[in-house]
Amino acid sequence: MEHARLEALFQGRDGRQDQLIEVLQDMQAEYNYLPEEGLRMAAERLRVAPIEVFRVASFFKAFSLTPRGRHQLTVCMGTACHVRGAPRLLDTATGELDIKAGETTEDGAFSLDRVNCLGCCALGPVVLLDGVYHDHMTAGKLRRLIASVQKQDKEGVANDA
Ligand code: FES
Repeated sequence: MEHARLEALFQGRDGRQDQLIEVLQDMQAEYNYLPEEGLRMAAERLRVAPIEVFRVASFFKAFSLTPRGRHQLTVCMGTACHVRGAPRLLDTATGELDIKAGETTEDGAFSLDRVNCLGCCALGPVVLLDGVYHDHMTAGKLRRLIASVQKQDKEGVANDA
């Protein structure tokens, strides 16, 4: 872990206990999760008890204690989506990505989650991919969606090479 990157998060914040949530938000944005070394540093630098840092880090859903994928796929499993086939979508996602809900693929490409309602039940079943809603999903559409993201990633890598 690059120490300077972590260090930058604490500039002007030494001893500022009131900055704990802001620091953790910045850390989450920088790394896509809260690395253990960063949590230790937060306790030391902001002078907050380590147990309090961990409590805050694990309380808010916006924070993750494990590395997250570059792409975030969320399948709605709320009642309205459930009766319209959401379980099949979740099966498709777990099968295509070879992970369970709450996990991240080994290559760091995808994290998969399930939620109980995305707030647009009439459009169900719904999945959310990188902040974009995809409504009236079917297993076939989801398979194509995942494949297109994987293809784009591969092309991105090829272009960077
Ligand atoms: S139940 Fe899926 S959006 Fe509400």
